[in-house]
This record gives sequence, C-alpha cells and structure tokens, in this order.
Amino acid sequence: MRWKAKDAVAVVTGASSGIGRCLCKLLIDRGARVVGVARRSDRLRELEQSDLRGHFVAVVGDITDKSIRDQVARVATDLGRGQLDLLVNNAGIGAIGPFADASPERLRQVMEVNFFAPAELTRILIPRLRQGRAPVICNISSVLGHRAVPNKSEYCASKFALHGWSDSLRAELAADGIQVTLVSPSTTRSEFFDSLVETDSGQTSKSIGSWPPERVARTTLASIEARRSEVICSLGGKALVYADRASPPLMNAILSRRSIGS
Ligand SMILES: NC(=O)c1ccc[n+]([C@@H]2O[C@H](COP(=O)([O-])OP(=O)(O)OC[C@H]3O[C@@H](n4cnc5c(N)ncnc54)[C@H](OP(=O)(O)O)[C@@H]3O)[C@@H](O)[C@H]2O)c1
Repeated sequence: MRWKAKDAVAVVTGASSGIGRCLCKLLIDRGARVVGVARRSDRLRELEQSDLRGHFVAVVGDITDKSIRDQVARVATDLGRGQLDLLVNNAGIGAIGPFADASPERLRQVMEVNFFAPAELTRILIPRLRQGRAPVICNISSVLGHRAVPNKSEYCASKFALHGWSDSLRAELAADGIQVTLVSPSTTRSEFFDSLVETDSGQTSKSIGSWPPERVARTTLASIEARRSEVICSLGGKALVYADRASPPLMNAILSRRSIGS
C-alpha cells in the first residue's frame, strides 16, 4: 500500500528552513495537515501565514527539550484525533574540525539534536503511528551515516547512530505495519553550514556536487509515498557509499591522505 498525503496528519521537525521547510510545503500542497517544529518562530509563522487552508500548525521550541516533544505529541494528537500517519525526524546540526581539539559539549550537542531527540520523539509518537494509515517514520540521515569522513566525527557518529537505530526499529515495527524510511542526502544548499556548532568560520566542507533543498524534499516525499526502506540522494553520495561498500580499506587510505593534506 502506498502512503498518501491527502488528509494525512504529519509531524516534521526542523520545519523552519532547508529540507524540512520544503517538505512541509509539499505535504501541505498535497492535502496533508502538518505539525512543524523548530526554534525560529518568525520562520514558522511565515509558513503558517502562507498556508491559506490552515493546514500548518507550528510548535516553537527546542526538540532536545522533553516538554517541547510532549507538546508536539499533544498538538499532533488533537490534529489527528489520535491518528498520526507520518513522522519526519529532520532537524539536525553539524560541526567541522578535528575531534581532539573539540570540547566534550560539541559531541553532546550534536548527539542530542541528531540522535537522542528524534529517538525520544519517536518513542512517544509510536502509539499514534500505530493508529495511522500506512504509517511512515522518515529519518533524515546523511551519506555520512554510511561512510564516515575526517573532521566530522561527531556528525558522522550521530548519523551512524540514526542509521543503526532506524534499521533496528524497522524490523521491530514491521508487525505493526509501520515503515521506517532512511533518507541520506549528500551536500544540500541549505542554511546548514551557517549554524555549525563550535566551528571556526575558516573550516569548510568539501563535496562533489550538491542538491537544492527542494530536490531533497521531493526525493524524500517520493520515498515516503513508495514506503521505501532506504534512499541515498545524489550521484556523488551514491559514489561515496558504494565505493566504501566495495572496498573499505581503499576508502580509508584515500580519506586518511586527504585528512593529512587538509
Ligand atoms: N545540508 C546538508 O548538506 C545536509 C547533508 C546531509 C544531510 N543533511 C541533514 O538534513 C537535515 C536538514 O538539514 P538542512 O540541510 O535542511 O539544514 P537547515 O536549513 O540548517 O535546517 C535544519 C533545521 O533543523 C532545525 N533545528 C536545528 N536544531 C534544532 C533544535 N535543537 N530544535 C528544533 N529544531 C532544530 C532548524 O530550525 P531552528 O534553527 O529554527 O531551530 C532547521 O529548521 C539535517 O538532519 C541534516 O543533518 C543535511
């Protein structure tokens, strides 16, 4: 059975910019009602005002805060009368730079936002998803959750955790008819690199090709509708992941050399 946006109830975290914002717009255009979560209230209000059907409900706050996650659950329950059809765990942050030079707080913050918050939000929403129509939990990971690279150790660790947890959850929830879709974008031209945690402005991210957030959101929605288990976005992303699967030692050697050189 395909997942259908029309009359569906969805929760999307990280709705104020980039991939999450584009995905909210697509879902609303196709007839879904969406609870969008993020900290920047002005951005969420803009979305609310541009949605003339009143299909977007904002929850303003930090997703690492339990009381905000509880509020999301209450708002989603009211909107869907207990039924939830889609949860998109999209909110995420990054950091660039050597692990040895970083503070313990950098690791903790990245793990809190990218892993513990989505895991705990999912835990409280599973009972509502069990009441949903062809329900899907969609976790926005990264190609760096398949192949780790130097100078992004905290981010890679958080996305590997999200990947492993998603695979485990998919098997656990199959009997309930809940699909877990893991979407792994590569570099996306969003505001992501403007809000890196504890990162010198001189630090940059190298990538082969990049996608606009609209394209990642369209690919994400298509994967949700088809109830796919996993999708890796972009040719560059696929090249990185499949080269690593073919020869991890070769990839280790290439990346170590790049790390020494940079
Ligand atoms: N951009 C890339 O190159 C890239 C590549 C692969 C994967 N991804 C993944 O794609 C996802 C979306 O990123 P993006 O590229 O669209 O970046 P983005 O434009 O920076 O969007 C990130 C979203 O997460 C929200 N967010 C961050 N921390 C939060 C918190 N503590 N509580 C609530 N919301 C929070 C932000 O909203 P507020 O600031 O308003 O809270 C924003 O809406 C992330 O999981 C990221 O890891 C991105």
